Amino acid sequence: MPPLKFAVLAGDYIGPEVMSAALRVLAALAQRENLVLEYTEAAVGGAAIDRHGQALPESTLQTCAAADAILFGSVGGPKWEKLPPAQQPERAALLPLRRHFTLFANLRPGLLYPELTGASPLKPERIPQGIDILCIRELTGGLYFGLPKATTTLPDGDIQAVDTMVYRKSEIERITATAITAARARKRRLCSIDKANVLETSVLWRQTVTAYVARHAPELTLSHLYVDNAAMQLVRDPNQFDVFVTENMFGDILSDEMAVICGSLGMLSSASLGTGRNSRGLPFGLYEPAGGTAPDLAGRGIANPCAQILSAALMLRYSFGLEQSAARLEAAVRRAVTGGFRTGDIAFGGAYLGTEAMADAIIAHL
Ligand code: IPM
Ligand code: MG
Repeated sequence: MPPLKFAVLAGDYIGPEVMSAALRVLAALAQRENLVLEYTEAAVGGAAIDRHGQALPESTLQTCAAADAILFGSVGGPKWEKLPPAQQPERAALLPLRRHFTLFANLRPGLLYPELTGASPLKPERIPQGIDILCIRELTGGLYFGLPKATTTLPDGDIQAVDTMVYRKSEIERITATAITAARARKRRLCSIDKANVLETSVLWRQTVTAYVARHAPELTLSHLYVDNAAMQLVRDPNQFDVFVTENMFGDILSDEMAVICGSLGMLSSASLGTGRNSRGLPFGLYEPAGGTAPDLAGRGIANPCAQILSAALMLRYSFGLEQSAARLEAAVRRAVTGGFRTGDIAFGGAYLGTEAMADAIIAHL
């Protein structure tokens, strides 16, 4: 087995803390599974602004391009909030990275272990078995990237800003193909979410998804929901979904809603897969926790490393094809957490561990 070559972009605030915990867990797994890790660290986000004057330096892009995957921490925070919006770490690092590698398919598992239902703001009777759903968000189209995107002063002195929501049929088809693969590996139920009663892009979205699934995956049960209804259904009965697929902004919003009902942002991983293939012929991808930089937790050694570790598991699965190693890592996290080893965000006020001790507990459960 050739070495696992990946770029490590830890970023800001808790990013480097949870990353170092995750790298330690990965090293322990690698030792047990006879894998060789070969990773290169590179600056990104606010850390890169401070060091190189830019949130996504060319050298960082080159490190990523030379690797088979990117393990990403998180970027942004109060320190850089005074910069013009377009120079802030999120817009100047994360979005261009997604764009550069055409990371169009964002997979966000919404997983709440039954033992942790108490961490969810939902009533336990709504989620007796916890939550197990998958959000698939289109990540390189729609409002976040469409042009024109500008603020102008009009002849009458008023100011106008415009963002453009644009989708091509081919973009909708490729994310539908990802959703089909995911739904086949789960319960064969796919829900497509749009706003086809108002938006042209959504009309095309719905037509395209319907035709594509009918042609390529007629065995799946396909349903459609308007996004406002979907937001409501997600809190009413999350497990009515299995896999849902939606455009960029709707997915951004619904995935945060999913995150909160799953108890803690500190548990949620994500994979962003590209059109490109890596040196193993597998999807090049970026793997990041969904929780952000949590400036209030930074520097205290208390952040939950699970989301970063679970993101590393997704990297093993999708970009390295190591299903068993990925499953072993996921099982270790699950056993550690359900066995009572927890960080403060999921401890319900009970005794809790710091970041490094949590990583140790996971290593012990490998
Ligand atoms: C996310 C984040 C990003 C997004 C921000 C930080 C640009 O909210 O990954 O969901 O909107 O995509
Ligand atoms: Mg978001």
